[in-house]
Amino acid sequence: MHAINTKKELIERLRDIRPSNSLGLVPTMGALHKGHLELIKKAASENKYVVVSIFVNPTQFNNIDDLNKYPKTLAKDLELISKVDMDILVFAPSVEEIYDDSVKAKNYDFGGLDKVMEGKFREDHFNGVGTIVEQLFSIIKPNRAYFGEKDFQQLRIIEKLVESQDIPVQIVPCPIVREDHGLAMSSRNERLSNETRLKAGFIYKTLQTAKEQFGTKSALDIKEWVKNQFLENDDFELEYFEIMDVETLTPIKSKTTNVKYRAFVAVYANEVRLIDNIALN
Ligand code: PAJ
Repeated sequence: MHAINTKKELIERLRDIRPSNSLGLVPTMGALHKGHLELIKKAASENKYVVVSIFVNPTQFNNIDDLNKYPKTLAKDLELISKVDMDILVFAPSVEEIYDDSVKAKNYDFGGLDKVMEGKFREDHFNGVGTIVEQLFSIIKPNRAYFGEKDFQQLRIIEKLVESQDIPVQIVPCPIVREDHGLAMSSRNERLSNETRLKAGFIYKTLQTAKEQFGTKSALDIKEWVKNQFLENDDFELEYFEIMDVETLTPIKSKTTNVKYRAFVAVYANEVRLIDNIALN
């Protein structure tokens, strides 16, 4: 299996495929793990053809160190994808291929979905995500595109992008895949020591307990409890914990029937930033 590196070659390969077959797209930044593979398997089961894109998108990183340290494992990624299905097309362009001379993000109006949590703590992150995903949609023109609930805010923002620009693609949400002890799988987990990686089950345990408390306690009390859990834990530093309405991504005021809520967390383990979330009702 080899990767296609240019838009021109990919468009040529898709020319005969697209008109009469269903096409699924799984956008990734590579360093594939079981979480990504579940998205790819789902795409392969629901579409005749699948494109997996592998591109570490510079415009969505607000921290140059994080970008430079992002793991790059293309040969291993290709091997893992070929085990799902040899016919999957892999698009792995260079930065120049995507951005020409100007490595800049577009500016989007995501209706406020980008002003909280990841958007608040990672300035311009979602403009970068929107820029690459919009470009992938326009080159590949998939019928369906697969996004993980691990990055729930990203998923909501892509839904918003598609809706506001009338892009004819179905966005398919995929559940979070976890390690045995509960840590949400992430390419960044590779940067944790074995010891910290095991201890990081604590993050999901805390979310699970917050979920249990959601039945009886106020959101304010739960937030306070979570904050204290992290203050008492020397291994992880809490950046934010929020309980949000999943539609608007605004903080819960008082529990309203028929509104779905999720709890979201961002945590530092030394210099590695981890995010996770859980459905509360
Ligand atoms: P990346 O972090 O590589 O993730 C690619 C896709 O895999 C995303 O939709 C993400 O939510 C999903 N994913 C990652 N870990 C997961 C897990 N443990 N369970 C379920 N799904 C998981 O997200 C990006 O790349 C980029 O922002 C991208 C959309 C490719 C744009 O550059």
